[in-house]
Formats: sequence, C-alpha cells, structure tokens
Amino acid sequence: MEQYVIKGGNPLVGEVEIGGAKNAALGILAAAIMTDETIVIDNLPDVQDINVLLEAISVIGARVDRINRHKVAINGSMIGQVSVDYEFIKKIRASYYLLGALLGKYKRAEVPLPGGCNIGSRPIDLHLKGFKALGANVSIRHGSIIAEAEKLRGKHIYLDTVSVGATINIMMAASMAEGYTIIENSAREPHVVDVANFLNSMGANIKGAGTDVIRIRGVQKLHSTEYSIIPDQIEAGTFMFAAAATKGDVMVKNVIPKHLEATTAKLVEIGCEVEEFDDAVRVVASKRLNSTHVKTLPYPGYPTDMQPQIVVALALAQGTSIVTESIFENRFKYVDELTRMGATIKVEGNSAIIYGTEGFTGARVSAPDLRAGAALVIAGLAAEGITVVDDIVYVQRGYECFEEKLRSLGAEIERVTTEKEIQKFKLRVG
Ligand code: EPZ
Repeated sequence: MEQYVIKGGNPLVGEVEIGGAKNAALGILAAAIMTDETIVIDNLPDVQDINVLLEAISVIGARVDRINRHKVAINGSMIGQVSVDYEFIKKIRASYYLLGALLGKYKRAEVPLPGGCNIGSRPIDLHLKGFKALGANVSIRHGSIIAEAEKLRGKHIYLDTVSVGATINIMMAASMAEGYTIIENSAREPHVVDVANFLNSMGANIKGAGTDVIRIRGVQKLHSTEYSIIPDQIEAGTFMFAAAATKGDVMVKNVIPKHLEATTAKLVEIGCEVEEFDDAVRVVASKRLNSTHVKTLPYPGYPTDMQPQIVVALALAQGTSIVTESIFENRFKYVDELTRMGATIKVEGNSAIIYGTEGFTGARVSAPDLRAGAALVIAGLAAEGITVVDDIVYVQRGYECFEEKLRSLGAEIERVTTEKEIQKFKLRVG
C-alpha cells in the first residue's frame, strides 16, 4: 500500500503547471462514444479515475488509442454492448455518465447502480428523473439501472437539487433526443460548461450552459471533433491553499482565474495576496492567516471539493472559523486525522468549528477520500516533523504527479511502500 512521507516546514515557493480538469474529462470521455466518428481529446489528466473510465469504454467495444499521456483518440463505432460492468462503477461512480451517453446514442443502457461513497450517500434519482422525462423506461434490476426507449423526446425538466452529475447526464441524452429539452436549475460548474462545449463541437445544439437554464435542441447524429479539456480548478485551488498553509509564494500556471474566484476571495479574506494574470494566479502568504466563515455551495459558490483544504488553512489561522458543508453529508471524516496533528476542530452537524492553532506536528494519518487526502498532505507540509499519509490511492485518483509537483516547489515528500523506505527518508531529511 502506497503512502506519502513528508517532512514539513518548508514554505512552498515556485511555479506549478495545472493539468486538465478530471471532472470535465469524465463527462467528455463518456460523451465521446456518442458518435461513430473518431474523437481526439487533449489535456486529459493522467489519473486513476480517468484511466478506469477509459478501460470501461474500451470494454464495451469502443476503440481507445492513447496518443500520449494527455491525449487520447476514441472511436465508438464498434460498441457491441450497452451494459457496463459493476467492476467499473465500483471503482469510479462517474461511470454512470455512460448511462446518458449510451441512452442518447443507442436508446438503451445498462449500468450498475452506484452505492454510497466515502463522502456520503449519493443518490442519482435526479439523473433517472431526467431520463424518464425524456421518455425512457427506467428500472432497477439485479443492482443495475436499465434505461431504454424507442425514442427519446425533448422535455422541460426541473432539477430539485443543483446536481453536476444529473445536469451532465441529462444533457448528453437530450442531445440526441427528438425536439427541445430545457433543464431548469441546472448546475453551472465550469466542467458542465466544458462538457456542453465539447458536445457542441460534436454537432450538438446546447445553449445556456453556465447558467441555471440549459436549452438543448436534439440532433440525430454527432460527429468527430478535436477538443482540449479546461484546466482543473480544484487541482489549482489545492496548490493555492498549499501555498497559504506553508506561508509560501506559488505561481499556479495554466488556470482560468475566473473559475477560481471563490477560492481566491477566501484566500484574500484570510490574509493572502493573490495576483491574477491571464492564465495564472500567484498566491503569497507572508503572515499568519486570519479566521473566516465559509459555506460550500454549487458554483459560483465556494466548492465542496475545496472544503478540506480551507479547513487545514483555517486550523492554522488566528481565531475561530466556521466551515459549513452544504453539499455532502459526510465530508468531515478527515477532521479526526487532522486532530492527531494538533488541530482543534469540533464538528456539529454539517459545520466544523475550527479553533486556530499556531502549528501542527507531524503524525501518521489516513486519507479518507480524494480531497481530504490532498488536504492532509497540505497539513503535513505545514507541520513540524514527519507526517505519513496512508491510503494515498484516493489522492492518486485525482491528482497527477502530486508529489513531483510539490517537490518542484521545495516540499520534502516521497511516495513509499515500506516502513524501510520511511526510515530511509527520515535519515535523509534529518
Ligand atoms: C460532482 O459529483 C463531482 N464529481 C464531485 O467531485 C463534486 O464534489 C460534486 O459534483 C459537487 O460539486 C464529478 O464531477 C465526477 P452532485 P456529483 O450531483 O455530480 C445531491 C471530487 O472530489 N443529488 O452535484 O455526484 C447530492 O447528494 C468529487 O472530485 C441528489 O440528491 O455531485 C448532493 O447533495 C467528489 N440526487 C448534491 O445533489 C441526484 O440524483 C450535489 O451532488 C444527484 C445529486
């Protein structure tokens, strides 16, 4: 089992390049099978979740050619089955995007129902509500969702909760439905817009992505395209908070600063200097951070995927902060781990009350999920002494070359698998 071993205390200084957005890529890869022509996708992050979805796509019969680490060609003309294996949905929930993609293209899809996950119970009722509204029969048999229709017909669909996944899934199916679909109360996240732009570049007719009303005129066929995925706003935000927590000075390059506005606003509020350039942001933290209050919200609000990272920074700030998680029910699991490093945090319902401390001390901790894992790494970088983060397989699901990028900023971090390697690291860093 791989772990990170970290010697904390170095301020992160330098430049870091951000990769393509994982959560946009997941939707885009699924949508790529909706034509029989070849699709080329660039700026693909080379992370576990993406590689699992590519495998799922190739197992149903699509041709997947990895042109290089960040570029892939997909051809969906040879798809022989519209059912996705449980093995994939178990590894990565977003395999459910194949439901919308297969239903749109073949009018039939069979995908296992994803179970709960580490950040809470995650229903997909809204996805199914959307497919039903488009005229599909949706049933659950033997653990799988079976969606089928003779014809999909455009419909006015209202989403009761703002959902990234439901918006993307319905948008895909509706792109190949007959007539006009309106999705109201749709998610406005940059990755929703990126999937819509991608589908439009394949010949779909989607308007309004990025607002809360998306209008889709169905088309009969989609065609080939070449598309480059937007930068990952959460990877960028993670490095921004790593700079803040270590009192560093980091230029985060290849980003769209507009997508980072909520993160930037909070960093400024807690006392960092943030300079925006055309496609970069520089974060400088020269003094102890201040406390603040934060509530996670759908975009353009403060992202839930940046919640653990800000908690780490606030746990080191002067004063008391309150962070309220309004999207997922179980996203404070990492707090107990952070407490082992010296943080003082009390979780009450969906809020964490954080009493700032002067500093953390390194400890052995476990990553409970992807973003919390990244946040524990930030905590380790800011802590005095050695931190070992277990279960980093979660972090690898969404961050490409995380430790290499951190090392290039002056962090002392290594990926290890044995106790002996940890001892060697300790001897080396003194
Ligand atoms: C996406 O998950 C992201 N995953 C998550 O990224 C992210 O945390 C989340 O959006 C919120 O921004 C991908 O894009 C692959 P939702 P998703 O549907 O689509 C409720 C990461 O770390 N809901 O927007 O599953 C749901 O329970 C992660 O990269 C329903 O009630 O999230 C939640 O409270 C993890 N019924 C809220 O909506 C539904 O049918 C928002 O969830 C669907 C969702």
